[in-house]
Amino acid sequence: MAGVRVAIVGATGAVGQELIRILEERSFPVASLKLLASPRSAGSTLTFQGEALPVEALTAQAFQGTDLVFFSAGASVSQEYAPAALAAGATVIDNSSAFRMDEEVPLVVPEVNGHLLDEGPQLVANPNCSTTILVMALAPLRRAAGLRRVIVSTYQAVSGAGARAVEELKAQVRAWLEGRPLEASILPYRDGKRHRPIAFNLLPQCDRFDELGYTKEEWKLVHETRKILGDPDLPVTATTVRVPVLRSHSESVYLETERPLAVEEARRLLGETPGVQVLDDPEEQLYPTPLETSGQDPVFVGRIRKDPFEERALTLWVVGDQIRKGAALNAVQIAERLAAPRGWRG
Ligand code: A2P
Repeated sequence: MAGVRVAIVGATGAVGQELIRILEERSFPVASLKLLASPRSAGSTLTFQGEALPVEALTAQAFQGTDLVFFSAGASVSQEYAPAALAAGATVIDNSSAFRMDEEVPLVVPEVNGHLLDEGPQLVANPNCSTTILVMALAPLRRAAGLRRVIVSTYQAVSGAGARAVEELKAQVRAWLEGRPLEASILPYRDGKRHRPIAFNLLPQCDRFDELGYTKEEWKLVHETRKILGDPDLPVTATTVRVPVLRSHSESVYLETERPLAVEEARRLLGETPGVQVLDDPEEQLYPTPLETSGQDPVFVGRIRKDPFEERALTLWVVGDQIRKGAALNAVQIAERLAAPRGWRG
């Protein structure tokens, strides 16, 4: 096949635009690129390989003649339109939560469970951004020493809540500097009863609460981590917090292994893992931060410490650009791994 006929659903969104950039940067063998979004965006253009391409309104017929469709327009759009893409014979890589916990659908971080792509599944789910960043750090430690328990607190950038949340943070910072009241209508989540400012604040709520008092985002971390690691009973407890950071999610991770792991060994294991970069030197005050890691591909790990009271426990500080490895890059890596079983070539 002379190149892959690709479509992106949600091409105008933050992840969609990053997908376009990453396909270009990694020289994915694109024969043609169809950009799909809501009717609001129809008629606008986006640039791919120096060429302005039109954005079209999504319809179920749009998938005729495509080989590969990335969905990144939310779960309801995936639920409604992915069946049409599959029926048209395309391979679907879905960035929404629509199919992640479906037993028939592989949920893949290529460095962790990429073998699930060897048979060339037609539908693959891309995990939640916080989960991808977490499992990149957990997997090599688990492989070496087993894993008994994980407690994670996240510090999530506003871009994870969409372009309007980014605008809201910027408008609030401007208002604060000009002495005006801070107006909030998006965060902690769009349809919530109550909105609070994110500027100069923290919101210990990403998405809605359930009857146990956990948010959907917290349950995604629990269930998706278990599925990707192939450990359905792994105890994972998550607290997800929105912070006034534009891009890159950070996570404070406490983990208990089956056998004790020395800090040096953990550093070595993480340092040898493709896609992970250790930035950890307390002497030099070296550790990852969201500002310094934005726009980069690796998941960064620092602050690797032993729990002084539990010899099998370690604490890590993990930071990753949630739009790249947390979403678009992981999706393109899935596509790259599917190239051989699907017979895609440049
Ligand atoms: P549009 O820009 O036309 O609204 P983000 O998560 O960054 O807000 O991006 C969401 C993406 O999903 C955008 O590309 C948006 O297109 C697209 N989208 C949202 N709703 C629909 C829909 N009903 N049909 C097609 N695309 C949609």
